[in-house]
Amino acid sequence: MSTMVKSARSTREPATPAKPPVYLSGFGNEHASEAVAGALPQGRNSPQRPPLGLYAEQISGTAFTAPRALNRRAWLYRIRPSAAHGAYRRIDTRLLRSAPFGEVDAPPNRLRWSPLPLPDAPADFIDGLVTMAGNGDASARSGVGIHLYLANRSMSDRYFANADGEMLLVPQHGRLALHTELGLLELAPGEIALLPRGLKFRVALPDGAARGYVCENYGAFFRLPELGPLGANGLANARDFLAPAAAFEDRDARVEVVVKFESNLWACEQDHSPLDVVAWHGNYAPCKYDLARFNAMGTVSFDHPDPSIYTVLTSPSEIAGTANVDFVIFPPRWLVAEDTFRPPWFHRNVMSEFMGLIHGLYDAKAEGFLPGGASLHNCMSGHGPDAQTFEKASQAVLTPHKIDNTLAFMFETRLVCRPTRFALETPALQPDYDACWQGLPRHFRG
Ligand SMILES: [Fe+2]
Repeated sequence: MSTMVKSARSTREPATPAKPPVYLSGFGNEHASEAVAGALPQGRNSPQRPPLGLYAEQISGTAFTAPRALNRRAWLYRIRPSAAHGAYRRIDTRLLRSAPFGEVDAPPNRLRWSPLPLPDAPADFIDGLVTMAGNGDASARSGVGIHLYLANRSMSDRYFANADGEMLLVPQHGRLALHTELGLLELAPGEIALLPRGLKFRVALPDGAARGYVCENYGAFFRLPELGPLGANGLANARDFLAPAAAFEDRDARVEVVVKFESNLWACEQDHSPLDVVAWHGNYAPCKYDLARFNAMGTVSFDHPDPSIYTVLTSPSEIAGTANVDFVIFPPRWLVAEDTFRPPWFHRNVMSEFMGLIHGLYDAKAEGFLPGGASLHNCMSGHGPDAQTFEKASQAVLTPHKIDNTLAFMFETRLVCRPTRFALETPALQPDYDACWQGLPRHFRG
């Protein structure tokens, strides 16, 4: 398809396109898109002279020889090849941290944080990355980094790419305009975006300040979970994932390209925007997804199902059924179970659970878990509903009830999430979190 979103050749800040972006539907699909008619070669990937004087460049997200069903790559037709840049130099990582995480001892305590305030000082998306926890080893391509972003300034002459992993963005406050090599994704709270490893992008903030969560996935790329007995449909449907149509910046200006590489930030300068891809095809593309499209399943008889029923995306590990990380949501849904304690049961889990709240109230906590905040229940830590929620749910009349106006999520990962020093020392860490389970009275009548 052709989308004429070409911006004028300019040295000024890139302009925001007046038209809404065009999207291509389907998760992991083979897409083809050109921002200028005729820019996409037909019948071959690397003709001797690509159309319109463009350079051909392949970006591989998997090994060349990865099985066909898992193979991810895209062909980009661009004004200059990515190789046209100077040497990288180390820059300050501020509060961004990376695996392996060993700054502080990982406590077995349950942890909960109030929302971090939006920044006063100017901070773009890169400046505003704050790491809360993570696990694994970025070099070994396993585990995750869990970050918040707190930004108040658009990236204009600055671009970012992450060689350590793909990034799952979960906005909580303020929209994001993700200008990527492959085109524009507009993202609002309630939507998520996946930015593939190595893809260059810049983040503009249409609403000013923005806050959200990032799961940096060092492991196998996120994919849709198997559906098993559910059949061919349900949960997140593939067609609801949207990749951008080609759109590019034809812009000669001094810009900085920042990359995250082997846990550090590096920057180089170049004399043109790296978002100069006029046409592309392939299946290695960023995408977005509206969580309101999630087709939630649940019990229609009894018992609270395991939360895996709400898995949107999963990054598998080499152990069958044991995710490097699952992205799980707790969306609005009907509760109809009979003779059942309907909120989440008390539990201890070998997997570690980092939770966030996009809006509303979470049904296992009456108070204290706030939009923009977070909690961490690590491997085998006992947790579940707070005392107030337990008493209420134990006495509730079990008529059909809709949980509405809520959207919580979980990054559930197979390894212990080791908090950063910042996460344990910030005043946002709630010192009295254990207290929510202290008021559980003895009911035993034996
Ligand atoms: Fe849990």
